[in-house]
Amino acid sequence: MGFFLFLLFFFSPVQRRGAISYDSSDQTALYIRMLGACVVFKQLFANVRVRSQVGFEPERRSSHPYLCIDFRTLHTRLGCGSTSASSDPERRVHRLLSFQRYLHSSRLLRGVPQQIPLHILDEDYTGQARCMLEKVGNWNFDIFLFDRLTNGNSLITLTFHLLNQYGLVELFQLDMVKLWRFLVMVQEDYHSDNPYHNAVHAADVTQAMYCYLREPMLAKSLTSKDILLGLLAAATHDLDHPGVNQPFLIKTDHYLATLYRNTSVLENHHWKSAVGLLRETGLFSHLPAEDRLNMERDLGSLILATDISRQNDYLSRFRLHLDQENLCMSTASHRHFVLQMALKCADICNPCRPWELSKQWSEKVTEEFFQQGDIEKKHKLEVSPLCDREMNTVGNIQIGFMTYVAEPLFAEWARFCDTRLSQTMLGHMGLNKASWGGLQQEPAPVSEEAQPSTACADTGDAATAPSDGSTATTAGGTSSKEIPQGSRES
Ligand SMILES: *[C@@H]1O[C@H](CO)[C@@H](O)[C@H](O)[C@H]1NC(C)=O
Ligand SMILES: [Zn+2]
Repeated sequence: MGFFLFLLFFFSPVQRRGAISYDSSDQTALYIRMLGACVVFKQLFANVRVRSQVGFEPERRSSHPYLCIDFRTLHTRLGCGSTSASSDPERRVHRLLSFQRYLHSSRLLRGVPQQIPLHILDEDYTGQARCMLEKVGNWNFDIFLFDRLTNGNSLITLTFHLLNQYGLVELFQLDMVKLWRFLVMVQEDYHSDNPYHNAVHAADVTQAMYCYLREPMLAKSLTSKDILLGLLAAATHDLDHPGVNQPFLIKTDHYLATLYRNTSVLENHHWKSAVGLLRETGLFSHLPAEDRLNMERDLGSLILATDISRQNDYLSRFRLHLDQENLCMSTASHRHFVLQMALKCADICNPCRPWELSKQWSEKVTEEFFQQGDIEKKHKLEVSPLCDREMNTVGNIQIGFMTYVAEPLFAEWARFCDTRLSQTMLGHMGLNKASWGGLQQEPAPVSEEAQPSTACADTGDAATAPSDGSTATTAGGTSSKEIPQGSRES
């Protein structure tokens, strides 16, 4: 672990921003857009050396000089042309660069030392984080705590640990330095200001994926390459997520919607971003070109499976296989399909976690929806389903999501795995649904005694739920019919 600490020290993350983001630079972008001054952007980009990739085009911010039509222009807090700050040329340049990776790379080129946050080396925290990693296969693993103990580096630390634990680094002769650099860049390309789709979600999905990889049905037949791909796909599956969903990107004419022809827009972007980082760091550069391309393709196929709007396709295929009992885990394509299902489950497993964890995720995802709704209202766009904070509650969104999306998936998953863990997950989901149902029906605080006996009783059970698979029923009628399927972007 000495080397680990060394790496932590050497490659401590610096601030970088994703390609698509909302931040203060929005005002500037709007201003520039209003002027129709795409030229400004083009000039800015022209001054920066762009690492060009031959052939296959991975998604990099560098590949989009037409960033000026970015939807982040919509997020401005300012009215049209109301700003004097934005018109200050110097400030404009500074702000535009601030969300570019180029800030990072140009700093490195100029030899400006990275800032090393010393607190990352805090022995106590590192020790506790390491201690948590001994139980990384527990379904109760508290990723929020782990993220705090690693000083916000849960995704790097967890993925690095898992790859090492499986011996994948030696097996695939991965260069430790490249690997660490890759993971740092992955973590940084998640938007930490997204309430939900940030690096902690990616770490959570990676941890869940690890739990599923250990399920006997998978563990006994997966190859090392399957495991490597599964973990990498989990870690990168939402890379550079803008915090808004596909319909939003389409209706605001975002360039990504155009690029991917309105189809799995986000997922394609996550995949291409991941490929971009693989190539930029050369993590697989020692492998034969054919293997490398296969890895990239399989990574894409896994990430694209997380498009929730395609859930029914995957689920009916899965159901058919299970009905006909013809999944053959010695066939590569079948293993790949199971990996896709595993990643889908990992991605939406929040309702299956113990209440205290599940509740936090629910609040975060709802907040992200509501923030999108706020933007839509501000710009007089139609407010997307589930995104109106006046019309929805955390509870009704959750109940609908569980009923129509999560329960059908996890029921089949449990049929496939037939393990204690898969039953435990269903058990938690039932209890969580009941808790939200109870909270929904709770009248305005009248009796202070009544509340703990309903809500908290469930909470206590949920946190320690045994695997009895009891699916508590609930007054799920609470406006759950308002919830359209597949509207949750994950
Ligand atoms: C994407 O959707 C928008 C809005 O519905 C539409 O105008 C556009 O033509 C679509 N693009 C493609 C390639 O289908
Ligand atoms: Zn996700």
